[in-house]
Amino acid sequence: MVTGWPNLASPADSVFYFIMGIALTFLFLNTAVMIYFLIRYSRKRNPKPEDVKENLTIEILWTVIPTILVLLIFFAGWKGFQYMRTVPPDAMPVKVTARQWSWLFTYENGKQDSVLRVPLRKPVKLLITSADVLHSLYIPAYRIKEDCVPGMETHLWFLPDEVGSYDLFCTEYCGVAHSAMITKVEVISQKDFDEWYQGEKKATQTEEKKQVEKAPAAQAAEKPTAKAEAPGHKGAKLIQIKGCVACHTTDGTPKIGPTFKGVYGKKEAVIREGKEREVVVDEAFIKQTLLNPELDRVKGFPPIMPSLHGQLTDKEMDEIIEYIKSLK
Ligand code: CUA
Repeated sequence: MVTGWPNLASPADSVFYFIMGIALTFLFLNTAVMIYFLIRYSRKRNPKPEDVKENLTIEILWTVIPTILVLLIFFAGWKGFQYMRTVPPDAMPVKVTARQWSWLFTYENGKQDSVLRVPLRKPVKLLITSADVLHSLYIPAYRIKEDCVPGMETHLWFLPDEVGSYDLFCTEYCGVAHSAMITKVEVISQKDFDEWYQGEKKATQTEEKKQVEKAPAAQAAEKPTAKAEAPGHKGAKLIQIKGCVACHTTDGTPKIGPTFKGVYGKKEAVIREGKEREVVVDEAFIKQTLLNPELDRVKGFPPIMPSLHGQLTDKEMDEIIEYIKSLK
């Protein structure tokens, strides 16, 4: 758990305990008075009921005290809200894209990941949107929560003040795999973060350079280079980043969708417009499924795959196919 100012956890928790304290105080107070009245004014002790007409003091008290309490609660909440909405100017911006049913984090240098990695003691500003339906981003350890709205950008900030791994999940029902829309906030040291942040970027840069040096003439050189690396290693990363793994496994077990393992070249029964037919899973079929998943649906699975149209380049699709081919 994260504690201590200037964390958002602190104002949120103190408001919570303040309200809880008021509620508990009145619970005990009212119960005690109730019990006292039950005994003191029982029929045995007061056989003849008395009528109380007016009591100005009590009326003023039960109006003024609750008003002050409610105003105090409002003030505490308002201060906390102001704090939540005021992003420190040096905060590191990270774009968050929610989609059915995974999270994508994009950093300033273009680096993407499905886990939110942040350096210790540096405020983080999340710029949040959705690629499809309404989702809601929730990080309980930092007591922050914000809607992810398609076509709109919302924001949040937090200060990671302790190294560790914290839950980040979707807290708005968004379809079949809503409950699987979970990832982690990894708070790491500045040094580890820099290494990670610069690391792969450098690797891809040198790789690109290599490609340019090797093959100035043809784009075809692209594929052999990727293959030389390890078959479909980029595809393996892509299915994480693009969120495919929310529904598809690579180990042979079916999840919300069919597994990727051994699927390439396999004959599958599919349903098109209510009619069943058989297809061979090849490059064309995978591409069609990525872009127009509603056309042919694999029998036995719900028709819920979102289209990745506009979210994948041709090269990325080839890399994913390359990776699926390698899963035998
Ligand atoms: Cu996304 Cu629930």
